[in-house]
Amino acid sequence: MQQEKIRVGIVGAGAVARICHLPNYLSDPRVEVVGIVDINQERAQALADEFGVPAVYPSTTELLSEGGANCISVCVANAFHAPIVLEALQGGADVLVEKPMTLTTAEAAEVAATVKSSGRLLMVGMTNRFGLSSEVLARYAQAGEFGDLYYARAAMLRRRGNPAGWFTNSKLSGGGAMMDIGVHAIDLAWYLLGRPRPVRVSAVMRREIAPYETEYVSSWPTADRPPDGIFDVEDFMTAFIRFENGAALEAAVAWAVNGPETQLTVDLYGNKGGASLNPLKVYTETAGVLSDAEPVIRVKRDPYAEEFAQWIEAVATRGQSPVPVEDGVTVVSILEAIRRSAVEGCEVEVPQVV
Ligand SMILES: NC(=O)c1ccc[n+]([C@@H]2O[C@H](COP(=O)([O-])OP(=O)(O)OC[C@H]3O[C@@H](n4cnc5c(N)ncnc54)[C@H](O)[C@@H]3O)[C@@H](O)[C@H]2O)c1
Repeated sequence: MQQEKIRVGIVGAGAVARICHLPNYLSDPRVEVVGIVDINQERAQALADEFGVPAVYPSTTELLSEGGANCISVCVANAFHAPIVLEALQGGADVLVEKPMTLTTAEAAEVAATVKSSGRLLMVGMTNRFGLSSEVLARYAQAGEFGDLYYARAAMLRRRGNPAGWFTNSKLSGGGAMMDIGVHAIDLAWYLLGRPRPVRVSAVMRREIAPYETEYVSSWPTADRPPDGIFDVEDFMTAFIRFENGAALEAAVAWAVNGPETQLTVDLYGNKGGASLNPLKVYTETAGVLSDAEPVIRVKRDPYAEEFAQWIEAVATRGQSPVPVEDGVTVVSILEAIRRSAVEGCEVEVPQVV
């Protein structure tokens, strides 16, 4: 018997929907993309035409009721994630929500409660977990190759590279470099540490260089560039996060720095070994001798392709979410504590939700 297709609806017809969600859904024969929603109807229609999607709808309500979508991708500005996720879950759909899952811990807790009561699947789009090097490193860590992990350092420092539009408006984004790329760095390092419970955070946020007028630099091609030009968010964030098991994570991210640019890098330190990511390198002591090894990975894998492959498999088989709502809640609670610590200028407690 032929299985029914997953009826996907896309909410938010901007850059991430166009570059990542639509191509990956449409390349899987188990999926049918039934409709697109955007507050900018012209943009929704143009995207539907480009990808051969049969319909656009004025809101998530019609996408569910008229379009019959049973799986929703939430690709809108961060401030609108929570209400759309809640409506989709309550309307009986599984949900892939872009990062960060929500702006606040209170919203994240409501989403977690609704995932439970609805029985639907939710995945947070933490794409960096799906790179092959990240996966290999996670395998090393989970196999105990590093012993007890007690320290991690995560960084993503751009020389000049903030996205435009709503990303720089705190009401719509919830923050700058932290909500855009800090969420990736913190999630990946926390995941590799084995997802310990965060307890306290001390952080600094600054806006020192952006908005800049540097020429010949590129950035994420945000579709939405409102003419208001508001830039009221940080371009730099550093945080020190303490976990219940005694481990610590130091994170630093920037949209603009006068210093060396880095990809997302993570250093992990354990009592038996350690590792660095991007490039992947493993540090151990073998037969009384220090040893530095570079795991051999000769194939390339697109992290987005892997993220969507795992998500579609989970939806089709009613399996586990590849990045469950509990992870989204914990990461949002860390982000919220970072914001509070930066404002108050002291170490603060991380709200405990899950
Ligand atoms: N996983 C990743 O690596 C990754 C990469 C880029 C962006 N993102 C995330 O994806 C989301 C979207 O980012 P983007 O770069 O595509 O932004 P974008 O500005 O290009 O697109 C957002 C779209 O959402 C629409 N929109 C805004 N509010 C809406 C609402 N309430 N209802 C319907 N439509 C609405 C806008 O009109 C716009 O077309 C953000 O949460 C961002 O953090 C994730």
